[in-house]
Amino acid sequence: MKMLYLILIISFIGGNLAQTPGIGSCPPVKTISSFDPSKYVGLWYENRRSIPNFFELGGKCVTANYSAINESTIKVVNRKISPLTGTESVIVGSAVADKSQCGNNTSCSKLIVEFPIPIVGKAQGTYWILDTDYTSYSIVWSCTDFIFSHVKYLWVLTREPKPPKSVLDKANTIMEKYGIADTPTMETNQDNCP
Ligand SMILES: *[C@@H]1O[C@H](CO)[C@@H](O)[C@H](O)[C@H]1NC(C)=O
Ligand SMILES: *[C@@H]1O[C@H](CO)[C@@H](O)[C@H](O)[C@H]1NC(C)=O
Ligand SMILES: *[C@@H]1O[C@H](CO)[C@@H](O)[C@H](O)[C@H]1NC(C)=O
Ligand SMILES: *[C@@H]1O[C@H](CO)[C@@H](O)[C@H](O)[C@H]1NC(C)=O
Repeated sequence: MKMLYLILIISFIGGNLAQTPGIGSCPPVKTISSFDPSKYVGLWYENRRSIPNFFELGGKCVTANYSAINESTIKVVNRKISPLTGTESVIVGSAVADKSQCGNNTSCSKLIVEFPIPIVGKAQGTYWILDTDYTSYSIVWSCTDFIFSHVKYLWVLTREPKPPKSVLDKANTIMEKYGIADTPTMETNQDNCP
């Protein structure tokens, strides 16, 4: 059941199912040393995501809109369009600094994202910002340990639906530096979006 919830929550975070399983525990990653949520707010386009493993839910025109609810909570609005039906789905959640990781550190780059789930109540997932320049790209990582294994998720978000190559090259360089460039990813279709 835990796995099912995880898949649900992650599919909401990324706007799609985007998980990659692995052996052993989560690889150690470094997150951005100082994160400023006030600069992070606004609209992001999903440029790449981990290759879906279980089944292809599909999702194009995936966006995330972050805005401040108050000084500690960010509102998360994820949208995507089903390529099969053409219908848009929207899910609204919230993100807060993960106190178990950061204590009272106000520049915490390790967040917890929470979405309401019918019947279950709510579901949570980690949202770690490995790096962002706030104005062009953000590299987001989520990894959860299971017995003898882990499930990891990677997203590249960009401010532009069709970012210039220089932005993507920069994101790739950072993923290489962080040792996660081997995570299989696929490009998100941002063509003919509303
Ligand atoms: C706050 O957290 C960041 C990582 O999110 C870390 O690099 C920084 O050193 C921390 N600051 C303090 C004062 O602990
Ligand atoms: C993003 O959210 C903010 C705050 O709710 C809203 O004002 C803005 O119009 C939204 N932008 C888009 C593109 O939906
Ligand atoms: C911020 O907003 C969230 C969501 O509405 C709420 O749960 C939380 O108590 C608020 N925190 C502060 C410090 O106002
Ligand atoms: C965090 O802040 C709370 C309330 O201000 C305080 O009680 C607590 O000791 C602080 N924790 C750390 C690790 O600084």
